[in-house]
Amino acid sequence: MQDEVSQSDTVAFKLSTYLPCCQNGSRATVYLLPRSVYKGRTCRRRLISLLVEKSSALQSSSKYVFITGCDTGFGNSAAKTFDRCGFRVLAGCLTEVGATQLSEATSNRLKTTLLDVTDSDSVDKVVDWIKNEVGDKGLWGLINNAGVPGVIAPTDWLKIEHFRKPIAVNLLGLIHVTLALLPQVKRAKGRIVNVGSIGGRVAVSGGGYFASKYGVQGFTDSLRRDMKAFGVNVSVIEPGLFKTGLADPERAFREKMELFRQLPAAVKHQYGDDFLRKDAEKKRPLNERILNKDLSLVVWCMEHALTSKHPRSRYSAGWDAKHLWIPLSYMPTFVQDYVLLKNKVNLANPHAT
Ligand SMILES: NC(=O)c1ccc[n+]([C@@H]2O[C@H](COP(=O)([O-])OP(=O)(O)OC[C@H]3O[C@@H](n4cnc5c(N)ncnc54)[C@H](OP(=O)(O)O)[C@@H]3O)[C@@H](O)[C@H]2O)c1
Repeated sequence: MQDEVSQSDTVAFKLSTYLPCCQNGSRATVYLLPRSVYKGRTCRRRLISLLVEKSSALQSSSKYVFITGCDTGFGNSAAKTFDRCGFRVLAGCLTEVGATQLSEATSNRLKTTLLDVTDSDSVDKVVDWIKNEVGDKGLWGLINNAGVPGVIAPTDWLKIEHFRKPIAVNLLGLIHVTLALLPQVKRAKGRIVNVGSIGGRVAVSGGGYFASKYGVQGFTDSLRRDMKAFGVNVSVIEPGLFKTGLADPERAFREKMELFRQLPAAVKHQYGDDFLRKDAEKKRPLNERILNKDLSLVVWCMEHALTSKHPRSRYSAGWDAKHLWIPLSYMPTFVQDYVLLKNKVNLANPHAT
């Protein structure tokens, strides 16, 4: 478990054993997690949190948190962080390999299970397992994180099949898991954290991903209001662009290329044979500039939503989310269209039939 902790982390890590992480409910102990987990700007933010919210955090020890999509990315990072923090992490993984690797990298406290959020039997089985694990305590935290990008491409290239998977995983899967676990979360008067996206505010391209994330916003808003009376807090996290498997530009380019090859000749003619290459070249500078590499920015939001006495309804994570996408989402539609179309390549023959 400690293999990721470098020499320079040792002091902080040892201190955390004297002030056991999260166990006395102080923000200070959370800050004293290894710097490999919370570094740079995040550390400064945590220090501010420490000063502002010192006595407002809740105890984590013996609280159960279930996270979906823990094989890789944010879910994997969150599972490891919350395990170190003292939570009893129940980690849903899509694959055996993901579950095994996560178990090997964490303490015995963390338990894994296989979960495909699009498969009703799988959801039912996992819900029974969670009920058994948490007993009378109920489930303190549900983090709906599992997600897929689906094919992201111009809308007239797509078929209905391309919309099904992202909507099935990112929206219907999230709703299914939430509904099935609500009684457990209500029992604990706990927290639900939905991982949305800035793609749920600004649809930067065609594809089911954006429709699914707009749906997550709507579901989260109604759930938050409906759960208020039960003492259950609901938050949505809206990350910008982060370097994970989901945001791999090469995979996205390959998928688009494959789609382009299958298009009718007339549509290919409208776009032009060079469209994809030129479009990728035009978008690359902005994408490289805004890509966030520090996944702990998102994990910090999850942790705040789980442990703060006053969790926020919305968290944004990443420079681009805060300074580009969220401000843009408040602009008039014609401004949004202007900015987004400026970053696209002109079609070769849009009026050709
Ligand atoms: N990266 C970004 O730029 C970004 C931005 C905004 C929002 N998000 C959101 O953040 C969340 C996590 O994504 P990530 O960036 O960490 O990408 P990721 O590394 O691909 O993580 C997504 C996880 O979900 C799992 N998964 C896929 N289909 C599933 C299913 N049917 N049932 C259960 N689990 C499933 C994946 O398993 P496998 O690895 O085995 O496929 C993977 O572990 C997603 O909801 C995503 O939309 C990401």
